[in-house]
Amino acid sequence: MHSSRSSGEADTVKRKRYAAGVLVAITLIVCAVSARSEEKPVACITCHEYLGGELAKPVREWKGSIHQQNGITCNFCHGGNPEIDLGNIQQLTPLQLADKQSRAMAKSQGFIGKPSGKGMFEICGRCHGASVDRYVNSIMGKAYLGDKGGPSCVACHGAHRNTIPEVPKVCMGCHTDTTGFDQIDAMNVTASTIEELSKIRIKLAAEKARGREPALLPEFPEELGSFQIGFVAFGAVIFLFLIGYLVYAVLERRR
Ligand code: HEC
Ligand code: HEC
Ligand code: HEC
Ligand code: HEC
Ligand code: HEC
Repeated sequence: MHSSRSSGEADTVKRKRYAAGVLVAITLIVCAVSARSEEKPVACITCHEYLGGELAKPVREWKGSIHQQNGITCNFCHGGNPEIDLGNIQQLTPLQLADKQSRAMAKSQGFIGKPSGKGMFEICGRCHGASVDRYVNSIMGKAYLGDKGGPSCVACHGAHRNTIPEVPKVCMGCHTDTTGFDQIDAMNVTASTIEELSKIRIKLAAEKARGREPALLPEFPEELGSFQIGFVAFGAVIFLFLIGYLVYAVLERRR
């Protein structure tokens, strides 16, 4: 059995260990917090969210987008200085706010405002050179650069929630007849695309004239994921199996 003295010693050891544990925990927390605060908040996002309404809409759309997921922040497309220290934004006077804004969105900091005209191709082209090359010499690309109503990159892809657009839905604002649009290369419409399109349309019209319903499963539309395809295949296997079993059962009875 332990004497009361040795149990007192054990208690001090326990207390020391406890103190050391607490110290380690505090150190870890402090390190974690300071590591986080080193990741500077993006001033553009803080202020635009704070101002709300139309100015916050780009932030709302951008959040959760493929660009946000890849760390492409506001300044990648608009320029400017995202590292302005806003402190506690709620305590800023209107004058201070305006000063911060003009420093973040200063031309001298490379701020370009809304990318437009050829400037948009240059901005997107920094990371999507191949897509710009595909579009720039197309009929619509030329109509955009020549200010003749052609769609900009963001007319089809959105400015802040960039997605692969739904065709032909996205085309309907400018085109009344979108038949066959889902079968052409929207980013590279050329003279040969127009020929191709008229062939597609003749074919579709002929099929319609014959009153033909579209073939049952001509091709799986892209929206059908592998799950649905797998499901249909599974159904087919079960069906064949049942037929096989029926034939077997009939033959067996005849014997
Ligand atoms: C302290 C507040 C504040 C900060 C920080 C701020 N903005 Fe703004 N921003 C505004 C306000 C207010 C407007 C609308 C009035 C105006 O255009 O002057 C605006 C407008 C804009 C516009 C629209 C301009 C136009 O031509 O329609 C863009 C684009 C923009 N900001 C991008 C940015 C980017 C990128 C950053 C970060 C580098 C940023 N902002 C940082 C307050 C701010
Ligand atoms: C991938 C490039 C890109 C990114 C990233 C981006 N923007 Fe934009 N932004 C644009 C383009 C292009 C336009 C012009 C849209 C148009 O002409 O229809 C625009 C327009 C704007 C406008 C003007 C109002 C409007 O909606 O047209 C504001 C304000 C703005 N952006 C703020 C921001 C803020 C804040 C962020 C960061 C959360 C941001 N943008 C991130 C490309 C971008
Ligand atoms: C600083 C680099 C950068 C800039 C500038 C940029 N993007 Fe992106 N973009 C990316 C990255 C990274 C991805 C995600 C990876 C990928 O799919 O290529 C992406 C994805 C996309 C996608 C989705 C592609 C898919 O397969 O789902 C579209 C559409 C797109 N960007 C359009 C634009 C447009 C339009 C602009 C100009 C207004 C632009 N981007 C500017 C880097 C950039
Ligand atoms: C008329 C509508 C339209 C315009 C304008 C347009 N795109 Fe696209 N884009 C599409 C469609 C549809 C797809 C998906 C099918 C495909 O890849 O052909 C696509 C695909 C993409 C992709 C995914 C990668 C790829 O090449 O398939 C990126 C990135 C992209 N576009 C960027 C841009 C940029 C940058 C511009 C401007 C220079 C632009 N797009 C102009 C409709 C458009
Ligand atoms: C912002 C308006 C706009 C949008 C959106 C748009 N286009 Fe166009 N498109 C044009 C203009 C303008 C021309 C004519 C250029 C010319 O004739 O010089 C054109 C021409 C064409 C042509 C060749 C001539 C014709 O009319 O058949 C095709 C094909 C085409 N676009 C397909 C598409 C597809 C596919 C989409 C959607 C993915 C689309 N467009 C979205 C404006 C637009």
